[in-house]
Amino acid sequence: MGKILTKKRTKTSSIQNKVLVNILNLTKAFSGQEHNIVDNISLEIDEGDLFVLVGPSGCGKTTLLRMIAGFESPDSGSILLDGQDITNLPPYERPINMMFQSYALFPHMNVADNIAFGLMQEKNLSKNERKARVEESLSMVNLENLAYRRPHQLSGGQKQRVALARSLIKRPKLLLLDEPLGALDRQTKENTKVELIKIQYMLNTTFIMVTHDQEEAMTLADKMAVMKDGKVLQIGEAEDIYEFPNSRFVAEFVDSINIFQGIVVKLKNKKGFFGIKIEETKEIIMAKSKIELVLGQVIWVGVRPEEVGIDIKPAKNENQVVGTVIDYAFLGDKIVYHVELKNKKNIHVTVPTSERAKNPELIPGKKVYISWYYTDGVILTE
Ligand SMILES: Nc1ncnc2c1ncn2[C@@H]1O[C@H](COP(=O)(O)OP(=O)(O)OP(=O)(O)O)[C@@H](O)[C@H]1O
Ligand SMILES: [Mg+2]
Repeated sequence: MGKILTKKRTKTSSIQNKVLVNILNLTKAFSGQEHNIVDNISLEIDEGDLFVLVGPSGCGKTTLLRMIAGFESPDSGSILLDGQDITNLPPYERPINMMFQSYALFPHMNVADNIAFGLMQEKNLSKNERKARVEESLSMVNLENLAYRRPHQLSGGQKQRVALARSLIKRPKLLLLDEPLGALDRQTKENTKVELIKIQYMLNTTFIMVTHDQEEAMTLADKMAVMKDGKVLQIGEAEDIYEFPNSRFVAEFVDSINIFQGIVVKLKNKKGFFGIKIEETKEIIMAKSKIELVLGQVIWVGVRPEEVGIDIKPAKNENQVVGTVIDYAFLGDKIVYHVELKNKKNIHVTVPTSERAKNPELIPGKKVYISWYYTDGVILTE
């Protein structure tokens, strides 16, 4: 995979962001299970953000959302919304809505009635107000023309929009979305993603969204959290997590990366670079670390495939390892080379297809130099 485009923060940093959701030491185990499914999670989510949760299947994402919505109660810890402790409030008393992956539309109701259902509990609305709110919601998701259709007469993307409109019609402070794009085909997903960002931006409602898809997370998130085994490993803007992952797990989870195990053989020089001997090939490289390292320490150096150069001639003033081209694949705008190092380790290099002409000799069996700038490798200590 090539470098993923991340969402650019639209808010100016001079404005102090207000925290909407404050999760403190939240923990949950289901009966009969030894491990905590959600394990001492603390999180802050800013008002108006689209906050994305990612992590492997079973790591506790849905359980965390269900606790925020009030469908599941935590064993310990608390949830604050706008400074108010809502940990023990029933779901219907929380200004929160949750959109389920299955959409849960009523088959016997048309689109407009499905959306109006979201207003059921708002008893003091007049008929006209109710009608106006439904029309406003229909137009928000561009479904004015389909108001009288039944769910079975809609496409997957249209059903998804009905579910979104229904969950937003009560104007919740917080909307929880559990894999909202999961059931859509690739093209519909792309369009819906753009729509979702537009709607979220327009309403300035805070969204917490779960996804399995790292690329989706990167493109949608103002901030994201990477979870594993009930814990949050890293929180930050997508771009920071991509460029400065704090562990091998996060580095590999957000996108493909080449990881070399190494040992610190030279302490930081004046420019801030450490000398690292790559364990597998014994080559010495340089890399920067945000944390102090000690001689002899075992660390890992991660380099994204698009940061790596490949050539039949050695590079100058760059980190370099020697390998042999095994094969390559054309992926539209880029080529991915698979290169085997001395110790049989495989690494991936992506090059824009337009650069292929410069190096027609890069064919299987060719000895090559793999290089990257000293500043491009990221040191990982766990
Ligand atoms: N009501 C329950 N009773 C017992 N175990 C449960 C219950 N709900 C979830 N679990 C378990 O808790 C773990 C976390 O489940 P959860 O649904 O939160 O994962 P997830 O991160 O949302 O996974 P996925 O990406 O597959 O949706 C799983 O091992 C699941 O089997
Ligand atoms: Mg889930």
